Amino acid sequence: MEIITSSTAMAAWADSRRAEGKKICLVPTMGFFHEGHLSLMRKGAEIADEVVVSLFVNPIQFGPNEDLDSYPRAFEKDAGLAEKNGVSVLFAPESAAVYPQGFCSRVEVDGITNQLCGASRPGHFSGVNTVVAKLFNMVKPHSAVFGEKDFQQLAVIRRMVSDLNFDVEIIGYPIVRESDGLAMSSRNSYLSSQERKRALCLSQSLQEARQKVIEGEKDTLRLQEHIRNFILASGEVTIDYVSIVNCRTLEADAKISSESLLALAVRVGETRLIDNILLEQQV
Ligand code: PAJ
Repeated sequence: MEIITSSTAMAAWADSRRAEGKKICLVPTMGFFHEGHLSLMRKGAEIADEVVVSLFVNPIQFGPNEDLDSYPRAFEKDAGLAEKNGVSVLFAPESAAVYPQGFCSRVEVDGITNQLCGASRPGHFSGVNTVVAKLFNMVKPHSAVFGEKDFQQLAVIRRMVSDLNFDVEIIGYPIVRESDGLAMSSRNSYLSSQERKRALCLSQSLQEARQKVIEGEKDTLRLQEHIRNFILASGEVTIDYVSIVNCRTLEADAKISSESLLALAVRVGETRLIDNILLEQQV
């Protein structure tokens, strides 16, 4: 596995592989790999000849009071894990190479960024879109894999790719969970052992919601309220949002249907965790 840090070397590598007719898949990440990240890499290796993983903690997608400085980092360990999971190139540019002095462009996607994480993290998605658009131009992939854990991020990237004619196939991949149900996240490393237990309220509330739907619940507002109370009953947690939305438009729906997505953002101590489920999905 090669480690590339400059964007010109990255583009030259991509050009040479493309000239050989190779298919390139990009897996964009911010590092501190867990099984969720590794599953995306393996998916990439399945569908393309070469997998490039980008590892870049993108400063412009963090708000002023968020965890940019404390975001967990483990470069050597990550490089070893990427290599074992079929990755050809780990692309790890310096911040100054991605955002040189004078950089002042942003990619904005309207509409589907107004709710959920877009509402509680102003500017977050324009930071994500901007870096992903830049990564597409630097890595020149044929496809890119994103996790459904960040459901809104995946929807926003799909919209950007379609609206701006990026020639990149976007592939979504299911949420990977710990054995007790907690969705894997680099941010789980912030949790104390007490908080780790409390964090189970997210995945448990998703299961509770599915059960209610199986039992015949069709009313979105009533189910949202039930889930809010279910989460709050688990102790000291703060709800950022509990929203049932249409999985294509991310807009609120009055009645539960096969396209209803329950999305959550909950703070456990200082740590903000997200999770989601399609309420009528067959398992
Ligand atoms: P990061 O949080 O490192 O996530 C990288 C990719 O891993 C994303 O596509 C995310 O949805 C996916 N992922 C995270 N946890 C997962 C899990 N438990 N199961 C499956 N996939 C999971 O998302 C970002 O980085 C950044 O916003 C980025 C897209 C790299 C732009 O900076």
